[in-house]
Amino acid sequence: MHRTLLVTSALPYANGSIHLGHLVEHIQTDIWVRFQRMRGHTVHYFCADDTHGTPVMLAAKARGITPEEMIAQAHDEHLADLKGFHIDHDLYYSTHSPETREYASKLYLRLKEKGLITIRSIEQLYDPVESMFLPDRFIKGECPRCHALDQYGDNCEACGASYAPTDLINPKSALSGTPPERRVSEHHFLRLAECEDFLRTWTRSGTIPEEAANKLEEWFKSGLTDWDISRDSPYFGFEIPGAPNKFFYVWLDAPIGYIGTFKHLADLQGLNFEEAWKPDSQWELYHFIGKDILYFHALFWPALLHKTDLRTPTQLFVHGFLTVNGQKMSKSRGSFITARHYLDLLDPQYLRYYLAAKLNGSMEDIDLNLADFTARVNSDLVGKYINLASRSAGFLTKRFNGRLAVTLTSEQTTLINQFRAQADHIATCYDARDTSKAMREIMALTDLANQFVDQYKPWELARQPEQTEALQQVCSTCLELFRLLTLYLKPILPKMAVAVEQFLAIPSLAWTHTDPNHGILGHVIRPYSHLITRVDPLKVAQLVVQSAPQATT
Ligand code: 2FM
Ligand code: ZN
Repeated sequence: MHRTLLVTSALPYANGSIHLGHLVEHIQTDIWVRFQRMRGHTVHYFCADDTHGTPVMLAAKARGITPEEMIAQAHDEHLADLKGFHIDHDLYYSTHSPETREYASKLYLRLKEKGLITIRSIEQLYDPVESMFLPDRFIKGECPRCHALDQYGDNCEACGASYAPTDLINPKSALSGTPPERRVSEHHFLRLAECEDFLRTWTRSGTIPEEAANKLEEWFKSGLTDWDISRDSPYFGFEIPGAPNKFFYVWLDAPIGYIGTFKHLADLQGLNFEEAWKPDSQWELYHFIGKDILYFHALFWPALLHKTDLRTPTQLFVHGFLTVNGQKMSKSRGSFITARHYLDLLDPQYLRYYLAAKLNGSMEDIDLNLADFTARVNSDLVGKYINLASRSAGFLTKRFNGRLAVTLTSEQTTLINQFRAQADHIATCYDARDTSKAMREIMALTDLANQFVDQYKPWELARQPEQTEALQQVCSTCLELFRLLTLYLKPILPKMAVAVEQFLAIPSLAWTHTDPNHGILGHVIRPYSHLITRVDPLKVAQLVVQSAPQATT
């Protein structure tokens, strides 16, 4: 059955660079999207920069540019970085768009009409020097529990306590250093408790992983409180209709950015926008997200969609965090690796492969162990996979003008059929985002192919004139196996697959090309040229740049 899928990765903030943490998600999404496309489904994969909020506003100010200039620069950089890792979006847009503005206003007004917005005054900390209310992260002071100094306004890094910023002892604005004042202002809230019945059902209907649903259970137990969706001026964002100087909180318009971005794509490509978002849509909607933003995607977002009479997501695909050499990425340890820094040193295909070999569709954290990364890529991709082509293509080109044998021995045919027979199983792994298992299966086949070459030793056959036919058959078998492995690896290594398609002179590989009609027996290939180089451990070492130790006296 042909399906139409809408797929997103979470929208990266415009005030920071794309780093390896983002890449776990974008690579995971891209692999899944490419796989679904190879299966013949229609996939609209879109993403955007998440452009609003106080951090963006202040970062622009610090650089002496406007927020609009800053987000334009960030957009160009982010897009180039993601393309550098072969992420194949149909559109990479921005939440600072006319479409997202329109839908944020529209949906807000619909919620208001339904009595789901309430307005009341709250007291917050205000910086009189900077003339602005301070988000929690911009207030520092003494922890009310353990008295550690210099702690943020939301929780203490020393003892782990969470509190309100107004609980801090001797609070100071991180912007001006002055003690903040308490000031009252009106805020707009979404009455989330009104959505509880719907959310309880929705979250238990196969839309989110079981482990995530259990987490949500805790939130239901502690009660769904009203969600503050407004911020006071100055704020970089969209003004709330009918509420001058009040702006939508960035987390309100960010997910609506999924709709705005798809609207832009639909206009560009003539797609059916209405079908995508109507409550009984026949299209599927998948969001890839990290576990840190589950709350927004599993509560606010479906509640907002449901209450504004739009479709809800088909499923949320939630992944864990990335550690580097077993530790949280950290700027001071030098393990905060940006996409650009990686691309300046290494081939993006190595990372795509390594992450695929680690990701299993669960919410577990994954570790990029750099020694393991080097060893694994060199052994699997270079040592086992590419070697198959380099070991057999030369003989075919030199001795047979590039032509593959027309018939094989029954043993060789059986081996090829064994490779073909794995197509469904590998597809099931990809579909479930268990690329780790898919890689194990593919590498087990790669081992079989190498055993076959080691057993028949084409380099020895090549020295015996009476073995000419056998030489052609062995090398042809090997290349057909290599073609099938390339097909199986294509969602992960799309650039490599294109190079292999050119070398084998075959059309773009789709999943159905595992059937015997698409075999390359009797076919003429082009001369082999090198497809990938070994990972250079010296370059890997440069990924983590230790900053000079700080003097302690
Ligand atoms: O956590 C983040 O990085 C957010 N910028 C993700 C937003 S995803 C969506 F809701 F827009
Ligand atoms: Zn504390």
